[in-house]
Amino acid sequence: MNFELKFTTLNALCDAKTGALLILVSPSAQAPSLKGKTTKALSSQGAAAQGSTISDLIAQSLRSEQLQSKTSRTQILWNVPGIVANPVIFAHLGAGQPKDLKNALNAGMSLLKTSAPNCSHLSVYLPDVTGQSVQTAMQCVSDNAYIYTTTKPSAKASVLSKVTLFAPSLGVSAKDKAERLNVQEAFKEGHARVEGVAFAKEWGNRPANHATPTLLGRAALGLAKYPKINVQVLGPKEVAKLGMGSFMSVAKGSEEPLRFIVMHYNGASKSSAPVVLVGKGITFDTGGISLKPGAGMDEMKFDMCGAASVLGVFKSLGELSPKINVVGLIPACENMPDGRAVKPGDVVTSMSGQTIENLNTDAEGRLILCDALTYAERFKPRAIIDIATLTGACIIALGHLRSGLFAAQDKLAEELMSAGERTLDPCWRLPLDEEYAEGLKSNFADTANVADRSAGSITAAKFLQRFVGKMNWAHLDIAGSAWKSSGPGKGATGRPVPLLLSYLIHEAKADVESSSTPQRKKA
Ligand code: BES
Ligand code: MN
Ligand code: ZN
Repeated sequence: MNFELKFTTLNALCDAKTGALLILVSPSAQAPSLKGKTTKALSSQGAAAQGSTISDLIAQSLRSEQLQSKTSRTQILWNVPGIVANPVIFAHLGAGQPKDLKNALNAGMSLLKTSAPNCSHLSVYLPDVTGQSVQTAMQCVSDNAYIYTTTKPSAKASVLSKVTLFAPSLGVSAKDKAERLNVQEAFKEGHARVEGVAFAKEWGNRPANHATPTLLGRAALGLAKYPKINVQVLGPKEVAKLGMGSFMSVAKGSEEPLRFIVMHYNGASKSSAPVVLVGKGITFDTGGISLKPGAGMDEMKFDMCGAASVLGVFKSLGELSPKINVVGLIPACENMPDGRAVKPGDVVTSMSGQTIENLNTDAEGRLILCDALTYAERFKPRAIIDIATLTGACIIALGHLRSGLFAAQDKLAEELMSAGERTLDPCWRLPLDEEYAEGLKSNFADTANVADRSAGSITAAKFLQRFVGKMNWAHLDIAGSAWKSSGPGKGATGRPVPLLLSYLIHEAKADVESSSTPQRKKA
């Protein structure tokens, strides 16, 4: 999808050459003289016969019952005299909070999809333009236009190919200039972000037979087309050589060979410590010998959404080129029951040397992640973040809104938390008290892979923590946020690409600032 950003006056919008025009109506737009009055829904005949001005339309629209109604908050006008765009859709911003913007855009977009499905060029007018609102608008439009077609040739891909964002023109003061630059930069980031989210959604949605470990490896190799990205894909032999006994034990039950994907994005100098991202890449989770019940098992094709989010972030990094180093690690395999599969009670030796008693073969995500975490140590990372559809218990705790966040260090937790708030891709921190690790004790190995049912997301995180030593580590449990089981956006969400990308961009900027302060410069 092609995005462009233009600064304009409200009434110059009348001449904008576009298909549909979506106008977001700010709560502060209500003219004082119109307050309190409501009239019947505006029809196109109601617009001034001489040609309407956009501000007239907004004022009239605000008096319509439709736009004020709590349920739709949208209105559509066809063939408005004096306005090139057709149709014109209004969506009320409600209380004007970032979440309201998202809701208004979603409502406006669904009206567009049903009433003007053939629209190829959409313009969106954002009354209160900020870096955040520009990015939210881009993400909502892109998410709403996304149609999965890869294994459904009968589905028609969206025809919406061009989106123009209109923002009120700013003045010439230094403050306005700075604001304009800020918005333009956010626009660039927003573009990289939607590309990354779309890539993560695409791979998340592909069925397991179209997204095997081998195919994920190929998808990663495809990203090596970006000049700053290098990719290596290791197979069973190399992984055995590394001593990843825990990862290998999960892959044993499957005919599909495992892959360990190692990606490097080199955006900063060699001496700058990287952020390492580790994504759980279980391309299908049957539970293994501890077999899952049949109902809803198809959704376990999404068990590689952590991996997909790492691929998505790399796609965004390739597009944007920020000044930071990032390593992406993806252990990818299937979890299958088989004559050769790992059995409950089996003890395996992880790359770290710690032995693990596998008390439930359905707790396989942590078994592939732990070896990747050990591998990550060699990069001396400034931070390491793993992303995993790790526990059903996380859905019980947080539902589908917030991802679970675990971090040993407060600073990293706060940085990730605020990245999630900025991008409307929120997470919530859960505790890591040592007492939660009690249940992982085993009589037959250094640790068991599961404890009892209570606090299942936390005990999973405590298991992972055994493999990160003193590293600055965080874990995101995206079991509830990575996909939707029903509704308009059914399928992969591409989360938490927005959170991760925003965190990385902030890190990159902080790094540039600290290395350019004189006292830090080497003589
Ligand atoms: N991939 C699942 C977690 C999951 C389940 C994510 C449902 C999203 C929806 C994971 O591998 C798993 O099976 N976890 C078990 C752990 C248990 C055996 C300790 C779970 O959550 O039931
Ligand atoms: Mn499982
Ligand atoms: Zn799993």
